[in-house]
Amino acid sequence: MIISICSHKGGVSKTQSSINIAHALTLENKKVLLVDLDIQMNLTRMFPDIVHGKTLYDLLKREDPAPVNECIVSTKIENLHLLPNSPRLAVLENEIVQNFGTGSFNIMKYRLREATGEEYDYIIIDHPASLGVLPLTAVIASDLVIIPINTGSNFSLEGINEALGFVKEARKNFNPLLKPTKLLLSMVKPRELAHRASLAIIHEKFSEQNLFKTNIPAAAAMETAELMKQTMFQFKSSAPVANAFKSLSREIMEL
Ligand SMILES: Nc1ncnc2c1ncn2[C@@H]1O[C@H](COP(=O)(O)OP(=O)(O)OP(=O)(O)O)[C@@H](O)[C@H]1O
Ligand SMILES: [Mg+2]
Repeated sequence: MIISICSHKGGVSKTQSSINIAHALTLENKKVLLVDLDIQMNLTRMFPDIVHGKTLYDLLKREDPAPVNECIVSTKIENLHLLPNSPRLAVLENEIVQNFGTGSFNIMKYRLREATGEEYDYIIIDHPASLGVLPLTAVIASDLVIIPINTGSNFSLEGINEALGFVKEARKNFNPLLKPTKLLLSMVKPRELAHRASLAIIHEKFSEQNLFKTNIPAAAAMETAELMKQTMFQFKSSAPVANAFKSLSREIMEL
């Protein structure tokens, strides 16, 4: 299953959700590939030991692309592999737009999805804060899109509807087999009024089909773990937030 973690809003926990869901799935004996689609490379930087060779750019470039297995690196976490990014990926967006109409929106589907075949149980794509061309190619290659939502100060229903509309268009025009989009309520502080208000709005506006049972709590430990380049399972596997990622990964396995 290929999962896009997608939102045009910055700082909503796309990267941290990607890496922690991925690690949780490996603990369920799944083989997982993480794909860094963001040229900020926050996900790639979570793996400082990795020796950089070929990256997503080499896989997707028009002239002389590299085979997918040459671009993937293994990580210290068992059964977790990474397809790193590089700043060079920025030029690709133009290349894809210039070739509009030649099927170039399917590039991720062919070069990533079909090239990896059955090798991975899950491929998780960490999106940049954008609803542009590269995110579109990723959604076209995906089975499921998860939209993380910061239920705190940054919350906006319009923002959620924009992201949902983007996925809906992609489903209609390119990928009719996409599963119903899931909203992931993240950085939740159940004791704070603003958070409770956001949760109430979401439960009023969206059906169970679009929501996970598990919410991810706000936890200061997440920021510390990130600074130490660790997942929550490496940093403190007994933390409630690690447990939340564990139950979330089990829900994902049931989809
Ligand atoms: N559950 C959480 N509790 C507390 N802090 C969190 C949580 N999840 C993420 N954070 C922190 O919030 C910040 C933003 O998270 P992250 O980088 O995952 O967001 P993003 O959506 O990928 O951002 P960008 O759009 O810049 O790529 C980071 O500092 C991260 O440590
Ligand atoms: Mg990110």
